[in-house]
Parts: sequence; structure tokens; C-alpha cells
Amino acid sequence: MAWEIYNRARARLLADDPQGALAILAAPGADPGEIWSDFACLEGECLSAMGRHQDAAAVLQRAAARGTPNHWVYHGLAREYRELGDFARAAAASRKGHALLGWPESERHGYVFTHDYFSANIADWTRRFADDIVAAPIACLEIGSWQGGSATWLLDKVVGPRGGSLTCIDSFAGSSEHAAWIGRLGETLEDMFDANISRTGLRHLCRKLVGRSQDILPQLYDEQFDFIYIDGAHEAKYVIQDAVLCWALLREGGFMLFDDTHFAFKDRPEQNTATAVTAFRTWFADEMDVLTPQDERQLLVRKKPG
Ligand SMILES: C[S@@+](CC[C@H](N)C(=O)[O-])C[C@H]1O[C@@H](n2cnc3c(N)ncnc32)[C@H](O)[C@@H]1O
Repeated sequence: MAWEIYNRARARLLADDPQGALAILAAPGADPGEIWSDFACLEGECLSAMGRHQDAAAVLQRAAARGTPNHWVYHGLAREYRELGDFARAAAASRKGHALLGWPESERHGYVFTHDYFSANIADWTRRFADDIVAAPIACLEIGSWQGGSATWLLDKVVGPRGGSLTCIDSFAGSSEHAAWIGRLGETLEDMFDANISRTGLRHLCRKLVGRSQDILPQLYDEQFDFIYIDGAHEAKYVIQDAVLCWALLREGGFMLFDDTHFAFKDRPEQNTATAVTAFRTWFADEMDVLTPQDERQLLVRKKPG
């Protein structure tokens, strides 16, 4: 019953009616029962969609104070603190969420991510790196590092324990979708990345290459990687270049993971990463096994041997 109410309210929110969603959640008899923290997250999302960020933060703070293990509460809190311009509290909320997702190193090392693009991947990555991507030592390459979210996780959970290396390529200029606000972070992306990588204590395992991936990747032609993460520019014309250039650097049996395969901006169709990812997986189908279902947000493929 509670999930049925929740799903009805979420459908209203998805239909751009946060007010209607809130009314469903607050209706007499709408008892959240055991899923009270999910109700709180949804209420927070509705208030956020209405621009009521203080109220959203207050709802989520109350849920956090009840001691929930639901990491989405902290994800929502980070979002609201960010909206309110309180980056320090946003980073602390993200760290708490990471710990609940099995990444206590984030809290212990005190990583600072004002904008966390990685949390949503932690559960899947934990499983994939346990079951499929098992090379040890492992040579990893990522295109798009931002403040070091995926990089610090890879160092803590994969490269540090197994040995190997992580190469990070980023222009540190942000992507086009960050242009409007990136100057307000108070620090450069590169400084934030450097500080977080230092906090891992594994800086010696991480090589940073600064520049556009489309310019840097051809310079790595004599290297081979076991795992490549493509999360840089999201314009289809750059994603297709990253994919083709990286494919040549991927070892046979190695894994390549694309982020945001569903990315679509109504006003900026050139940012539709799906066009590039679909073209790539079609043209290279005979050389790869696809490990993720069609509608996943991330696409994982393995390069066939031979
Ligand atoms: C979504 S963020 C990466 C998030 C990161 N993987 C994480 O999990 O925290 C995208 C990054 O790609 C970088 N970027 C955008 N275009 C690029 C390009 N052409 N070459 C290299 N990096 C680029 C941006 O500077 C930004 O830091």
C-alpha cells in the first residue's frame, strides 16, 4: 500500500506536478510505514522541484536525524545544500551517503565533492568489479575525472588493493553543461581533483593527463588498458571519438564502460550521447560482448579476444 502511494506520487512528480505529488503523500491515510525514508526523499524532491530548497533540506535533515541507512536521504541532502550554496555541507552529506554504500574510505579520507556524479554507480561498480572485471594487477583509464569521484573509488577499491595504475584524462574545464556555474566553485576543478587524489594516499598509482581526451588519447597508442571509463565530453561527436580511440587502447578481454548513455537535452540535441554510443556498439558489434541491458544508464562491453 505504501509503495503504491509512493509510485502514484512519483508519477505525478515525473509529470511535472510536484504539488500534486505532495498532496498524495500528505493525504489522510497515506501512511509511509517502513518506507518513511523513501517518502522523505520523494517529498524532498518535490519541494526541490518547487524551488523550496530550505524546506527540502529540513525534511531530509529530519530523516537523517532518525538514523536511516537509506543513502538516498544523504544524496538528496547533498543536492539541497548545493542548491543553497553550502558546498561544505553538500560534501559532508555525500561522504555519509558513500559510507552507507560501502565506501567508508570517503568519510575516513574526507573527500570533498561539491557535485557528486559517482554515488549512483557505486552499487553496480562494486558488483561488476567483484564478478566481471577481475584483472589483477589492473591498468585503468578514465576520460573525465571532475573532482575525482570515480578516480578515488577506483584507487580505494580496485587499483590500491590489486596493484596496477589509474590514468585520468581531463581538461578540467568542465563540460558544456557545467559552463553556467563552474566558476562559482571557489577552487579550480584540477585543484579539487589533486586534493582528493592526495587524500587517498595512493597518488603514486595515479597519472593525471591534462587536456582534451581527443588530443591526448592518440599519444597513448603504445599502451593497453584492462578497464576504460568514458565519462568526458557528452557531445555525441566527442563521445564517438573517445570510443573509437579508446577501443584501440583496450586489451583483448578488457572492459569499456560508457556513462550517461541515455543523456538527452531538449534544447541541445548535440549532447545526446546515445547517438554516439548506439553507433559505436552497432559498428563494433562483432568485436564486443555487451554486458548491460539496453536501457541501463551505463553501458559495459567486453572486447572479444582475437
Ligand atoms: C561528468 S564529469 C566526470 C565525472 C567523474 N567521472 C566522476 O565520477 O566524478 C565530466 C568531466 O569531463 C571533462 N571533460 C569534458 N570534455 C572533455 C574533453 N574533451 N576532454 C577531456 N575531458 C573533458 C570535464 O572537465 C569534466 O570534469
